[in-house]
Amino acid sequence: MKKLMMAIGIIGILTGVGFSQEPTSIAPDMVVNLNAVNAIMAHLIVDENYQPVVNDCAQISAHAKDIFEKSPSKDPASIKRFQSYALQLEANADILKVLAEKIQKSNEEKLDTGTLKKTAALTFGQIVTSCVSCHQEYRVR
Ligand code: HEC
Repeated sequence: MKKLMMAIGIIGILTGVGFSQEPTSIAPDMVVNLNAVNAIMAHLIVDENYQPVVNDCAQISAHAKDIFEKSPSKDPASIKRFQSYALQLEANADILKVLAEKIQKSNEEKLDTGTLKKTAALTFGQIVTSCVSCHQEYRVR
């Protein structure tokens, strides 16, 4: 991990990013997104533990905000589409976060959570859909 950070630092210097700034590439955000999506899937499907989902969604939402201004394309129409995928991701991560909080609370109060859980799964599907939609158009490799 240290080596990776060093490599990013060196690339930063070479590309004129400098020490104090974040690397301009959106790839590091993406790795965090992928880990969060994997974790969410395990929690929704395997252990039905919605508590960590709240944080995972907050992380995805924060990264969606970070990438908003980082469209790899400079064409105005293309920038708009990129931003709309980023907004879709942010909105669905925020919705799933609220659902996970509700499910947690309902569990504590011993209420029926069946419908909430299905809605959470559908929202998770929307999150994955926005990852794929944006990649299809903007990820070159
Ligand atoms: C708004 C557009 C957009 C959305 C939404 C998006 N991505 Fe990406 N993603 C990209 C682009 C562009 C790249 C290529 C980045 C690069 O190579 O610098 C990428 C690359 C990646 C990579 C490879 C990173 C690497 O180190 O090469 C992973 C993994 C990834 N995305 C996961 C995800 C996941 C999971 C989601 C959904 C939670 C997601 N992405 C949503 C635009 C997006």
